[in-house]
Amino acid sequence: MYKLTAVTKDYRKGRAIVHALAGVDLAIADGEWLAVQGPTGHGKTTLLQMLGALDRPTSGSVELDGHDLATMRESQLCGLRAASIGFVFQTFNLIPTLTAQENVETALVPLHVPAATRKSRAAAALADVGLTDRSRHLPGELSGGEQQRVAIARALVKEPTVILADEPTGNLDEDTRDEIISLLEAQWRERGLTLVLVTHDSAIARRAQRIVVMRDGRVSPARTALAGTR
Ligand SMILES: Nc1ncnc2c1ncn2[C@@H]1O[C@H](COP(=O)(O)OP(=O)(O)OP(=O)(O)O)[C@@H](O)[C@H]1O
Ligand SMILES: [Mg+2]
Repeated sequence: MYKLTAVTKDYRKGRAIVHALAGVDLAIADGEWLAVQGPTGHGKTTLLQMLGALDRPTSGSVELDGHDLATMRESQLCGLRAASIGFVFQTFNLIPTLTAQENVETALVPLHVPAATRKSRAAAALADVGLTDRSRHLPGELSGGEQQRVAIARALVKEPTVILADEPTGNLDEDTRDEIISLLEAQWRERGLTLVLVTHDSAIARRAQRIVVMRDGRVSPARTALAGTR
């Protein structure tokens, strides 16, 4: 589980300091599906970066299973990201010169998985997202929804415990959005994942088990936040 205590993150912007996170206290249980909503620029992506050990907080602690990511060595963080945390982004972030199959295989390279096993695990992950018949296509030959499926397969292939998704359907039409969220939901359920999903879209957030709202770098339960704006 995650336990964030008094987490702050400051960025320097020219001469100003931006308090992207201004004291976040948050616990996320193993296997929980949490949606994070909130206006643009209020710290949602920054929060995901802390959860994903992509960056360190300015102060406070980010504990994952009792280990504080804020103080872990870079090599340990690298290992954790490679093995335990899958990322899904709004813009898919596939490598354009690699096929779907090869894109998924890349996630296993840092884990030193032998080539033959990489191939079979990537094929299985693509099957899980319903893309077996597109495995030899380049990203440019796939629709947005299909590209996001490849990205989800790439996140799942390492068999992570946590999936962090930042506006995963932000670039997709409504039907494709629903397909992708249903896919994430099915994988969350089947694999017992912890799923943290950032979204502007209330229709998506409502499908999660719990919603929090980020405002001015702070997290509050959705209901309190809504009551506060009324
Ligand atoms: N690397 C950075 N350097 C400087 N400022 C940054 C950096 N990353 C984020 N910020 C600032 O921190 C604040 C929070 O940004 P963040 O990306 O977390 O917001 P967000 O809630 O994800 O917004 P959006 O909904 O638009 O994606 C913003 O003011 C942003 O400009
Ligand atoms: Mg963002």
